Amino acid sequence: MAAVDSFSLLLREIGRSYNYGIEMLAVIGAFYATKVCVTILNDTYVLIRVHFVPRIFGRPDLSKQYGKWAVVTGGTSSLGISYAKELASRGVDLILISRNREKLEAVAKEIVETYNIRTAIVVTDFSRGREAYPALKKALEGKEIGVLVNNVGVLYPLPDSFTSLTEAQVWEFINVNIGAANMMVHLVLPGMVQRKKGAIVNVSSISCCKPCPRYTAYSASKTYLDHFSRSLHYEYASHGIFIQSLIPFFICTNVTTCRNTLSKTGFFVPSSDEYVRHAVTTLGVSRRTTGYWPHTLLMILARFVPEWIWAWVVSRIKYGQKSL
Ligand SMILES: NC(=O)c1ccc[n+]([C@@H]2O[C@H](COP(=O)([O-])OP(=O)(O)OC[C@H]3O[C@@H](n4cnc5c(N)ncnc54)[C@H](OP(=O)(O)O)[C@@H]3O)[C@@H](O)[C@H]2O)c1
Repeated sequence: MAAVDSFSLLLREIGRSYNYGIEMLAVIGAFYATKVCVTILNDTYVLIRVHFVPRIFGRPDLSKQYGKWAVVTGGTSSLGISYAKELASRGVDLILISRNREKLEAVAKEIVETYNIRTAIVVTDFSRGREAYPALKKALEGKEIGVLVNNVGVLYPLPDSFTSLTEAQVWEFINVNIGAANMMVHLVLPGMVQRKKGAIVNVSSISCCKPCPRYTAYSASKTYLDHFSRSLHYEYASHGIFIQSLIPFFICTNVTTCRNTLSKTGFFVPSSDEYVRHAVTTLGVSRRTTGYWPHTLLMILARFVPEWIWAWVVSRIKYGQKSL
């Protein structure tokens, strides 16, 4: 065979494999495009089903649906007060828990006057570990607890490296952010199972979804709560218990201190009242949600952010708690 013939044969072969490569790429592209379309359709469906459809059907009677009493831990500030008010506005009696008797009495008084429901308060400090629970157990005895909101949580005074935490602060994260939710569920769940109804909300945080340097203990405690809720759901859904992992982004609360852009309410940074008004409508509807539809949009976007970019951005956010 002449050299010219073998060269054109080679070119034809290269052309054929090139076409084959292009076809393969087209198939991969089509698969990817289909996957993206299915994901977007599914996200849109979930957004509408969780955040908009429940509002069409009005406000269900939570005391009938789950039970007469609700327990709210950390019920004297921001999210806790907002949850207490929203549940009270739906006719549920309340047990409020925090460390400060005066604040508890003031919140309970305001709620009784506004919503005409029964309230009980329990003063306890979850950071003291096992000591906190005998009094709580006594206070809850004989009450039909239908809803438990595990809201109590501590944040860093300011973001910092893990070793800059004192030993006491490390235990505080474990006892308050993790221990309290475990023990409260352990106290109320048997009664709920007996009555075959009840709802538990564990307030996690968006920081549970990816590593958060300089908030390590906080974000890890929130990841614990998220997994705790999801596993409990599989254990107890068949007993008629609804367990929700609530994953908010930023909420403008009076004790959080953050960059100027986050210290005012806005479309993506709701007030605690507005946030809770949305979040309560997802109770019984979604077992893992941000609770607030603009936060769900952010969560969808966050899924596409590579972990290292997320970690880099988080390590630069100065979001902390004015007082622990
Ligand atoms: N704010 C946000 O942007 C945001 C975002 C995502 C998730 N979250 C989560 O939402 C939850 C509430 O946040 P928040 O901003 O409303 O917090 P917050 O305003 O600091 O309220 C914390 C509540 O917990 C009580 N508390 C604190 N330490 C306690 C302890 N050792 N024992 C008993 N009660 C204690 C406080 O009451 P006393 O001081 O009277 O004891 C207060 O009522 C937290 O779990 C937080 O991680 C918040």
